[in-house]
Amino acid sequence: MTQELYIGLMSGTSADAIDTALVSFEGAQSPQLIATHSTPIPSDLRADIRALCQPGTGELDRFGHLDGVLGETFADACLALLVNTGIEASAVTAIGSHGQTLRHRPPSPDARAFSLQAGDPNIIAQRTGITTVADFRRKDIAAGGQGAPLVPAFHRAVFGCAHENRALINIGGIANISWLPSEGPTLGFDTGPGNALMDDWIGQHRRERYDRDGLWAAQGKPNSMLLEYLLAHPYFVQPPPKSTGREIFNLQWLDTQLEQMDPMPAPEDVQASLLLLTAHAIASAVTGLADQGPARAYVCGGGAHNSQLMNTLEALLGEQVPVASTEALGIAPDWVEAMAFAWLARQTLKGLAGNLPEVTGAHSAQVLGGIYPA
Ligand SMILES: Nc1ncnc2c1ncn2[C@@H]1O[C@H](COP(=O)(O)OP(=O)(O)OP(=O)(O)O)[C@@H](O)[C@H]1O
Ligand SMILES: [Mg+2]
Repeated sequence: MTQELYIGLMSGTSADAIDTALVSFEGAQSPQLIATHSTPIPSDLRADIRALCQPGTGELDRFGHLDGVLGETFADACLALLVNTGIEASAVTAIGSHGQTLRHRPPSPDARAFSLQAGDPNIIAQRTGITTVADFRRKDIAAGGQGAPLVPAFHRAVFGCAHENRALINIGGIANISWLPSEGPTLGFDTGPGNALMDDWIGQHRRERYDRDGLWAAQGKPNSMLLEYLLAHPYFVQPPPKSTGREIFNLQWLDTQLEQMDPMPAPEDVQASLLLLTAHAIASAVTGLADQGPARAYVCGGGAHNSQLMNTLEALLGEQVPVASTEALGIAPDWVEAMAFAWLARQTLKGLAGNLPEVTGAHSAQVLGGIYPA
């Protein structure tokens, strides 16, 4: 049986790091994680990314510049992974690059849908000498879908189980769920904020990148009135298919809710409320999906390291739905998303679909992405 190597390249909405995963595929076996590498995104580059996540002047020139810089940075991240492992570029079939999302506008009656990622795949292919597959989301949108989430098909392929109902929850900047029942169709959608709002709030108040283990949130007390205002956002009750991003859940939105508060809660109470918001949105998604029979929840993404968040989620779900990290299923939570893009690139090169129409709302299954030969 021949082994095929792919690199999955992921840079998520948190804009914290570029994650690369070298993944081996062998026949029908589950993909194996061979090596990983994480390149922190320098703060000036993160500032450029964050600036382009909001409308502003000179966007086209700033986009063109960032697209190239990120293309180079992504290529360097792949090369560093290969140097560390001593594997030649020629041994890798392809790179699957998600790109850095700058704007995600799902289908709505008010505006045309689009999803824009930066990180020029031409540059990645040129600099690495490896065929690169990128721009995964727009094909699904062209087929009438949300363009997101795209990971449920991968979650189904590697974590699906014939004797257990599983909820796979990725807590990145935004959180998303894949419902993998032991029988029946896979479902999935973005539940709402993941870490992004908590990161932004602690960044504004304490100049920290994120709330390590949720310790600051643990010092506060969730404010029930604020939580009520936050949960009143129509997104939380909108039926799937649905996807979201920083366009909606950002500090500006939070400030608008805080303006209604009198007295103003202490900053650590706001952090505690944001943590509860993330956990609450995830827990109600899980409970809604797992209303028939027992299930288990498995968490991946950076949020799996936030022990306060994990404990809160566990408390909300109770004994009905035990919570663990994907480590319990053999894959460390930090690498699931990058692995998914290695898997999606392979699907594309094999002419196989990458989206699940029942998840994204596309009218049919689609071979996703564009192929950029080396
Ligand atoms: N020990 C920790 N305690 C609390 N939060 C953590 C910890 N480690 C990581 N995180 C959180 O995880 C975030 C990064 O998660 P991750 O890389 O999964 O998100 P992402 O890049 O937005 O990915 P994606 O959009 O693909 O889901 C950090 O910004 C931080 O908020
Ligand atoms: Mg990340």
